[in-house]
Amino acid sequence: MIDIALILFGYLAGSLSTGVLVARLLGIADPRSDGSGNPGATNVLRLGGRSAGAATLLGDALKGAVPVLCGYALGLPATTIAVIGGAAFLGHVYPVFFGFRGGKGIATGLGIFLAWSWLPGVVAVLTWLGVAGLSRLSSLAALVSFALAPAYFLAIDQSPALAGAAAGMALLTGWRHRGNIQRIASGTEPRIGRR
Ligand code: G3P
Repeated sequence: MIDIALILFGYLAGSLSTGVLVARLLGIADPRSDGSGNPGATNVLRLGGRSAGAATLLGDALKGAVPVLCGYALGLPATTIAVIGGAAFLGHVYPVFFGFRGGKGIATGLGIFLAWSWLPGVVAVLTWLGVAGLSRLSSLAALVSFALAPAYFLAIDQSPALAGAAAGMALLTGWRHRGNIQRIASGTEPRIGRR
């Protein structure tokens, strides 16, 4: 019963669209209708600057991490922990509180990865930072780090449950980035630091 409650909690926490809430609080443009149209940290950074972007990043990461950490605190098994993280991710992408119009799941996913297991999570974050630093493309960094994350959970943790859930998240985020992928291919994807 507690496992079902935490899966539901994960989905509801994930459904709190931090980017939209931060935009409302700071009185900046709604990220769903301006910039790239994505309510994620990258777009809030574009529209509202560094503090707004950082607040979105932190809030989105925490709402993914907290339900997973609650699952660990209650001693739930790895499969349930994997599902709780997946539920928070789904909440971010399809939020019940925001008409099921959510984001692409990167900050939330990285928060989930870090909470699932710190070392594969840190390697995924470093992958994001490395690719973003080299390319200045947030979306490319997201796609590469999520594509590699299942291998990190398998190689470092030998956890098929976490690797499988990470693979599902990578597939969904790949789908959500299909517009970004087209823009990367055509050389029109905006780079970090430019509007
Ligand atoms: O975190 C989302 C990022 O990968 C892409 O965001 O706004 O450039 O589509 P955006």
